[in-house]
Amino acid sequence: MTKTTSRVFNFSAGPAALPEVVLEQIQSEMLSLPGVGSSVLEISHRSKDFDAILNDATSRIAQLTNLPDTHEVLFLQGGSALQNVMMPMNFLTEKSQTADVIVTGAWGKKTAAEVSRFGKLNIAWDGSESDYNRVPKPSELQLTPNAAYCHLTSNETIHGVKYWDLPETDNVPLLVDKSSDLFSEPIDIAKYGLIYACAQKNAGIAGVNVLILKKELLQRCDDRLPSYLDYSKHSKAGSRFNTPPTFAIYVTGLVCKWLQEEMGGLANISQFNQDKASLLYNVIDQSGGFYSGHAAQHDRSIMNVVFTLGSEDLESQFLSEATQAGMTTLKGHRSLGGIRASIYNAMPIEGVEALAQFMVDFAQKNG
Ligand SMILES: Cc1ncc(COP(=O)(O)O)c(C=O)c1O
Repeated sequence: MTKTTSRVFNFSAGPAALPEVVLEQIQSEMLSLPGVGSSVLEISHRSKDFDAILNDATSRIAQLTNLPDTHEVLFLQGGSALQNVMMPMNFLTEKSQTADVIVTGAWGKKTAAEVSRFGKLNIAWDGSESDYNRVPKPSELQLTPNAAYCHLTSNETIHGVKYWDLPETDNVPLLVDKSSDLFSEPIDIAKYGLIYACAQKNAGIAGVNVLILKKELLQRCDDRLPSYLDYSKHSKAGSRFNTPPTFAIYVTGLVCKWLQEEMGGLANISQFNQDKASLLYNVIDQSGGFYSGHAAQHDRSIMNVVFTLGSEDLESQFLSEATQAGMTTLKGHRSLGGIRASIYNAMPIEGVEALAQFMVDFAQKNG
């Protein structure tokens, strides 16, 4: 438990812990936004007051990511589930075209599953043989020359696997699900055609999807698409094609402000995240096999630390004792089992230190 509140250390994979100062600001502004006199929940998405909120969130994202003029920020709804459909609908416009998908875990698999409804799917690599514990080497990729696009998931949240070095795709646009690692490190936006991130991990709360899109890709969107599914319509409407998730956009703005003003930007947060992850991986590596990490060492995620213990009984005991000690939501995803500690930007170092110490003590008692 932290000293100032009775909050637990919440290791949820998402929706996940938010910075406490953000929660406090939401609380203090809930009845009346300063200078507005109404709650953010009560104002029109077409009002000047919401203009200010939307512009603030957009410009903070631009500042954090050094957004080049070639790209723009959009806020959409529908999570990655909708993106999995919108990407092929907008960019795989000819049945004869191919989309390459690199499958490094459960989220990439879902993306691949939607593609063949619209055009040809090429699985450029699939890590299922090793239970998605690594990303491919460049030489293992079977990329299609002139593919409509190439998709990957930069951080596979369930398997705890991170794509540290993006593959070279020449002129083929790279579309990336960054739901669980956007804003966790500096980013070179110019390398991407499209980035999307369901906000409920590092970028705010559930309900909004932060997109960063290369403007020239909008030329591919076909006028015959259902309007809501057409990126260019959202772009023309400045993310207000219909009523956007106003509260979620407001929270994303506050999270970005926290990143800039309290955490000192993405280079600092990246160091902070690496330090936190090292604490846990060091315990795993020095446990003499009591804990085994799922991901191969060089592809380890610093957002989701996934590991197993010798038996399911021991894992249940671990989870129950951790909960009693104020560390919750450590159970691995139902498809993989084991333990998963999600340590996004907002997880304080004290939470990770507490977990690392708990792991050492637990191994000593039960090893
Ligand atoms: C990598 C990744 N993509 C997507 C999602 C979520 O997608 P959706 O918002 O459609 O539930 C998650 C987790 O919730 C995730 O970790």
